[in-house]
Amino acid sequence: MSEQSKHHLTNQFDNKTTAWSARFTEPVSDLVKRYTASVSFDQRLAKYDIQGSLAHAQMLQKIGIINSTDLSDIKRGMKQILTEVEQGSFQWSVDLEDVHLNIEKRLVELIGDAGKRLHTGRSRNDQVATDMRLWLRDEIDIATSLMRKLRYHLAKLALEHANTIMPGFTHLQVAQPVTFGHHLLAYAEMFRRDENRLQDARARVNILPLGSAALAGTSYPIDREYVAELLEFDSVSRNSLDSVSDRDFAIEFCSIAAIAMMHISRLSEELVIWMSPRIGFIELADRFCTGSSIMPQKKNPDVPELARGKTGRVNGHLIALLTLMKSQPLAYNKDNQEDKEGMFDAADTLRDTLTIFVDMIDGIKVNSVAMRDAAKQGFATATDLADYLVKQGVPFRDAHETVALAVRKCEEKGCDLSELSLNELREFNNLIEDDIFNVLTLEGSVSSRNHIGGTAPERVIEEAKAIISELSNSI
Ligand code: ARG
Repeated sequence: MSEQSKHHLTNQFDNKTTAWSARFTEPVSDLVKRYTASVSFDQRLAKYDIQGSLAHAQMLQKIGIINSTDLSDIKRGMKQILTEVEQGSFQWSVDLEDVHLNIEKRLVELIGDAGKRLHTGRSRNDQVATDMRLWLRDEIDIATSLMRKLRYHLAKLALEHANTIMPGFTHLQVAQPVTFGHHLLAYAEMFRRDENRLQDARARVNILPLGSAALAGTSYPIDREYVAELLEFDSVSRNSLDSVSDRDFAIEFCSIAAIAMMHISRLSEELVIWMSPRIGFIELADRFCTGSSIMPQKKNPDVPELARGKTGRVNGHLIALLTLMKSQPLAYNKDNQEDKEGMFDAADTLRDTLTIFVDMIDGIKVNSVAMRDAAKQGFATATDLADYLVKQGVPFRDAHETVALAVRKCEEKGCDLSELSLNELREFNNLIEDDIFNVLTLEGSVSSRNHIGGTAPERVIEEAKAIISELSNSI
């Protein structure tokens, strides 16, 4: 080996701006540099990159690759780097491509040779996979706790409105009366599933890829289990090729975020409808609405509208990631650098949306009178009349027909079923008795549905209380 190339190999971080300079004869253009660099967005992994490096260094010392002086130098250097990053004084350089090389270069600047030993037995390929898993694990924990808060607030509002009657809709037509509490708890169910999905995904995120090195593993006698323990991973990955190239965990997270945002968008759509002055079921607190610059009477539900809209971008990130990984041969390819921005944005969007919704749900003002009036208008208890007749021995299809005739009569008269007299009702079927008015009232209708999963106030109270007691310790 010539003196000159030896110099390159031993001093690459001192004299050159890239980690592989010795092999290259011409520099990349500024555009290519920017095009290939990820530092503008992956710097948010810095804390996790440092965490992973410290665990790696500790392991290298344990197996005798570096000595304890090196380790304490690395710890000291990393501590300073973390402070610089947190204070915003760290000088990020696009010349150093990504978060990993930026931090490593600074470490060498601060502590010299010990810094150059850190990258022994690893590659940026297993390093970045580790960083992302550490980052995502935290994000999943944040999203989980927000989901729990949201469920808690939904349950609290549901408990307050266990007896509030509103029309339940199918096809956005009044179908049967339900309690507002029951309606809210439907969303609590959706968010419970989202929370479960996050927990399922966490188990697959929490596996250590470090030690896979570039793709084939490393010839150093590394102790991967020790690193896993230090970083609180549940286990170590079982195939180095898969570990450096797998991005299932990011895709899975984006799919969970997309499903959760879809749930949020459904709730948002309802909030927007309910708040329309033509409906007037609820009012959102002013801090979630804006006015119009031209129409002084307007109060627009901007937050739920935007949440509905932001669902689209999260769906987009999911599709982008699936497409990114489609047909990629093993193992690591530079394509994978494109995994980050979408995943970051999906997590940010989910986090911000959930945080806002927790507060917004808490501040909903309910107009129970408007809800009740609407429930009275659409013959919402027609099914109850049919069920009454069935209980008197009329076959359900015949009962259905009879009630259809009764509804027609009400439409002609401009009244509700419960406003027909007993005699008028008996014209349709003389099995009808005075007790019919118990089931034709809205209260009678909802309270008769008191099986598990039904809309009866007693069930809503029970379900809401169960959620509140499940979550009250962790809120
Ligand atoms: N910045 C890269 C990424 O985000 C790190 C891994 C680079 N590895 C490589 N062989 N170029 O994926």
